[in-house]
Amino acid sequence: MTTLFDLRVEKSQDTITLIQTHLEATINIIQVDDQQLKACTGCWDCWLKTPGLCAINDEMQQHYQAFMRSDTVMLLIDTAQGFIHHGAKAFIDRLIALHHPYIVFKHGECRHKTRYKTYPKLLVHVDNSDLTALEKDMTRTYLSRMADHYRSKAYLMALTPSFNLEPLKRSQPIHKTIKASKTPSDEPWIIYTGSPRRKKSNTQVIVDALSEDVKANVEIRDLKNTKHFNTWQSTFKDEPNVLFVLPLYVHHVPSHVLRFIKGLKPSQGNLAFFVQSGFPESAQSHYVEGYFEGLSQRLNRTYKGTAIKGGCEALQHVQASTQANMLKPITDTLEHLIIEGFYLDQHLNKLKTPVKFSGLVRVLVSFMFKLGIINRFWNTLLKENGAYALRHARPYLEKKR
Ligand SMILES: Cc1cc2nc3c(=O)[nH]c(=O)nc-3n(C[C@H](O)[C@H](O)[C@H](O)COP(=O)(O)O)c2cc1C
Repeated sequence: MTTLFDLRVEKSQDTITLIQTHLEATINIIQVDDQQLKACTGCWDCWLKTPGLCAINDEMQQHYQAFMRSDTVMLLIDTAQGFIHHGAKAFIDRLIALHHPYIVFKHGECRHKTRYKTYPKLLVHVDNSDLTALEKDMTRTYLSRMADHYRSKAYLMALTPSFNLEPLKRSQPIHKTIKASKTPSDEPWIIYTGSPRRKKSNTQVIVDALSEDVKANVEIRDLKNTKHFNTWQSTFKDEPNVLFVLPLYVHHVPSHVLRFIKGLKPSQGNLAFFVQSGFPESAQSHYVEGYFEGLSQRLNRTYKGTAIKGGCEALQHVQASTQANMLKPITDTLEHLIIEGFYLDQHLNKLKTPVKFSGLVRVLVSFMFKLGIINRFWNTLLKENGAYALRHARPYLEKKR
């Protein structure tokens, strides 16, 4: 079976007709409503309470089954503000439920163990006419990383001037395209926090830890409060310093953050980013780093850099003293940005280690994976929730490929 998920806002029939003329297979067409499809909230119920099943009760429940029953899945995606539209990103984020929390190790990086034996082939068509050449390249490399993350063989599907399927091979991220400005600034900062979690957010733990000295200089706005989006998007042009502090979601930002960013207009001022992630290696965040550079240019803002910190999922689970030690280099980095107006390279370098695992460390980490030491964390949480016996559940029937 071939299933086409139309994730575009403007669902023109022309594109679908063009695809049908090129591919002779019968296509099961599913129109996904970006207004109805809810964003992943990072609750981890699909991993730790009802293994393999997403807790959000919306149309995605049917889409999971259609996805897993297909040999080929087509994704029709449109773009906004230099990247894929937030509706398509919400769909991509929600696919995490089809994978295990367990971690495996490849190419010096962590990835999730597959829950199913096989996953459908992906054909992705991006209506990217409003992207610059660099943004197109960045989006392509992002999609190849996304497909690698989800272990799907993937192709970029072009329809004009002629039909073409370009393999989305594992490729290096495009980042460090511009230099971060080191010009000081003593003006206040607006901090947008970008975790969709309702409770126990690591981003929140970080922002809460910023010292009292800094608090007088910042206004913190939680992007879960979507009712304020219009106001915040319109005041952006008058705000000299804006910082986004957010978790990494499938190598990029959570979809509700993209939804907010979509409404920003070019204006003068500074833009800085802090991204924290679950896996320890900062290379996970290089794709989004490139996007932040491009976004700053798109918005005419001075790019103040991206601080990257891996291994943060443990923040909320560790004892207070361990948490304080983990937070210190993070808050030092952010406090310097807020007080002086720029990131200090030595702070960034300390945070981003390890970029990837290499040499002896790689051997040691592989050994720890083999002994099951690293995945004990997930087993403890599964047991606490009485879900351990169901940990290998495959609630959706997969197509025998
Ligand atoms: C849908 C989803 C996708 C994620 N993708 C990644 C990823 O690609 N790489 C990574 O290292 N961590 C990833 N994470 C882990 C989060 O970045 C990490 O748990 C983070 O600390 C959550 O922060 P928060 O509690 O503030 O939301 C993902 C989490 C979710 C829910």
